[in-house]
Amino acid sequence: MDYLDVARRAALEAGDLLKRYLGKVEEVEYKAKNSLVTEADRIAENLIIKAIKQRYPAHGILAEESGIERQGSNYLWIIDPLDGTTNFTHTYPFFSVSIALEIDGEVKIGLIYDPIKDEMFIGERGEGALMNDKKIVVSDALKVEVSNLCTGFIHTADWMVEENLRHFGNFIRRARAVRRDGSAALDLCYVACGRYDGFWELGLNPWDTAAGYLIVEEAGGRVTKFGGEEYNINDQEIIASNGKIHDEMMNVLTLGRSNNSRESTVKD
Ligand code: IPD
Ligand code: CA
Ligand code: CA
Repeated sequence: MDYLDVARRAALEAGDLLKRYLGKVEEVEYKAKNSLVTEADRIAENLIIKAIKQRYPAHGILAEESGIERQGSNYLWIIDPLDGTTNFTHTYPFFSVSIALEIDGEVKIGLIYDPIKDEMFIGERGEGALMNDKKIVVSDALKVEVSNLCTGFIHTADWMVEENLRHFGNFIRRARAVRRDGSAALDLCYVACGRYDGFWELGLNPWDTAAGYLIVEEAGGRVTKFGGEEYNINDQEIIASNGKIHDEMMNVLTLGRSNNSRESTVKD
């Protein structure tokens, strides 16, 4: 499919650029506390947008650093040029490029590229999921106690940090292991290919999850909100799992949500 070729070429080019900038970033800007952006984020994003615009000038674009363009088009490209900027800034080699295409409000294509491992994950609605052109499927773990789980912590609101610490504690007592890797897009791919059995996070944005949630679903996994409701990329909470441990994860997340006021206090 042509869309996929455009996305693939743009992601490879952006990934190559990120590798060249790794360890050479001179200036880090703060969008908010602990929310970093570097010149590499911006240059990679411009490169991806340019490639898409060249081929599809009328399509809409939602990109993390430059916002939304041509709202109202039936086609919306959703781009995170560098997912894992904090890792990147610290030369911790776990970050990715994420590109999704939504058509008439439904994500149809998701592509995530890890330039360090040279791993390209692709999900096409109804067509399955691939890693470097080989079909991937979720793990077959049946219980949380034998699962390797992952989460992420966002710092924009006190209640999110506090609630997630409760979830973290609850899962660490029950699961085989819990990790915090720092690139939500790649975390989702790791669920899709069975390296993780489940993932949850609060406060993510559409560009963090649009490609990854499709890849998980196409690999046979399940993606919902904490209470099991259908997931939408504008939602503030996500569970992605192999499907088999999903209900158990939902039960654990219910424990951590009790007494939670979910007030949006922002910490400086
Ligand atoms: C971040 C990563 C991280 C997640 C944060 C995101 P960024 O994206 O996905 O894993 O925990 O919430 O904001 O800022 O590096 O593109
Ligand atoms: Ca991101
Ligand atoms: Ca980013």
